[in-house]
Amino acid sequence: MSKQFYLETFGCQMNVVDSERIVVLLEEIGYRQTDRAEDADLILLNTCSVRDKAERKVIGHLGRFKPLKEKNPGLIVAVGGCVAQQEGAAFLKKIPHLDLVFGTHNIHKLPELVRRVEENRERCHEVEFLDRETRLRLFPQRSGSESVTRFVTVMQGCDNFCSYCIVPHVRGREVSRPSGEILEEIRQLAADGVREVTLIGQNVNSYGARDAGEKSFAELLRAVHRVDGIERIRFTTSHPKDLSDQLIDCFGECGKLAHHLHLPLQAGSDRVLRMMNRGYTVADYLGRVERLKTVCPDIRLTTDLIVGFPGETEEDFLGTLRLVETLRYSDAYTFLYSPRPGTAAAELPDDTPREVRQERFERLLKLQNRISEEAWQEDVGKTLEVLVEGTSRQGEGQLFGRSSWNRIVNFSGPTELVGRMVQVRVTRSLRNSQVGERVD
Ligand code: SAH
Ligand code: SF4
Ligand code: F3S
Repeated sequence: MSKQFYLETFGCQMNVVDSERIVVLLEEIGYRQTDRAEDADLILLNTCSVRDKAERKVIGHLGRFKPLKEKNPGLIVAVGGCVAQQEGAAFLKKIPHLDLVFGTHNIHKLPELVRRVEENRERCHEVEFLDRETRLRLFPQRSGSESVTRFVTVMQGCDNFCSYCIVPHVRGREVSRPSGEILEEIRQLAADGVREVTLIGQNVNSYGARDAGEKSFAELLRAVHRVDGIERIRFTTSHPKDLSDQLIDCFGECGKLAHHLHLPLQAGSDRVLRMMNRGYTVADYLGRVERLKTVCPDIRLTTDLIVGFPGETEEDFLGTLRLVETLRYSDAYTFLYSPRPGTAAAELPDDTPREVRQERFERLLKLQNRISEEAWQEDVGKTLEVLVEGTSRQGEGQLFGRSSWNRIVNFSGPTELVGRMVQVRVTRSLRNSQVGERVD
């Protein structure tokens, strides 16, 4: 019987793509995936360290596997991703039943590392950052896909060093993948039946900026737009300071581009934005949104917001509330600031009491929940273009897909519709999805 592995993934799209790669690599060395940790010979956590006490959470999570290891000493327990990158060898010391730590640049080494543990029962770690050339060679490649929609990595890493953020520290410097390769991959995906691609990277709109002769992100988008078979394009994440006029214009001119943009604001006060090292002001941000709405009036925006950044005053916070009220994001991910090791903001004095930060967080959440609810309720009665992604868990004959605005829509129809763009009239808007009926 073949050996089995159990994999859990946390964090952003980067980790989702990395996990797909982990699956392929482990299958190549004879492992089969299981969704039961108890049955596994190898347990892996692909971790995220962007917020809170990420390290402690991973340690807590790993605790669950300790009894399994006691029962089966041959079991291999591995941690990868951003917490692994941050902690390195220290994690092996902290957690006696951990065998393997692999960093964000070392996924390709996993087969070799697993073999080393298997053969020598040697505990090992590999968290070296790789040079640019090697990283370019190892960019995640996708092929042979059953799904209608796929992520395509166009760049990795981040050079922005927002003062609160650990990502540049755990993912390394920005590298853009050659556009020729990206387009080739997307053509292949289209030939395999993929209809929607989401171009991903920590900061996709600075794509190509560091490489002489490379396409800009707007040019790359236009080239993807010309690929036959691809019917819808999304991209994430965008940094407001790099959202060029050329890129905004794509929303008016490229029919396949979804009318949705995730545009993290973080804070609605210039003072806080400066302390965050975000590189734009509230006025800059509003200017970008105005242009977006001019070229694409029905575009919907989503965002990320941080509450309780060190030194945030009530006045700063009210600025965030005011902007949220004005911009009417259809969804927002709201976070309580948490200091991350090695970041600049972790050194800043912070005298806002915990209860005050918590209370602000709740006020923001309440406001945003109301706005999201209103935004999605507005769709009831509208007929939307939905790209059908598959059969829904809701039951027999039920399909699901997404509207251009990136909301899940459930409706009934034959499975032949999977992969097709259909018209669906929304009849109900729920908390995280909508229900509708197909219009011929
Ligand atoms: N590259 C993306 C996403 C980065 S992480 C971007 O630039 O927006 C996702 C979100 O986590 C960030 O947008 C930010 O809102 C939040 N975040 C990052 N570090 C944080 C911290 N230390 N405390 C609270 N929230 C944080
Ligand atoms: Fe973090 Fe800022 Fe880079 Fe986003 S742009 S990943 S928030 S440093
Ligand atoms: Fe988390 Fe790493 Fe992504 S810290 S958000 S998994 S880049």
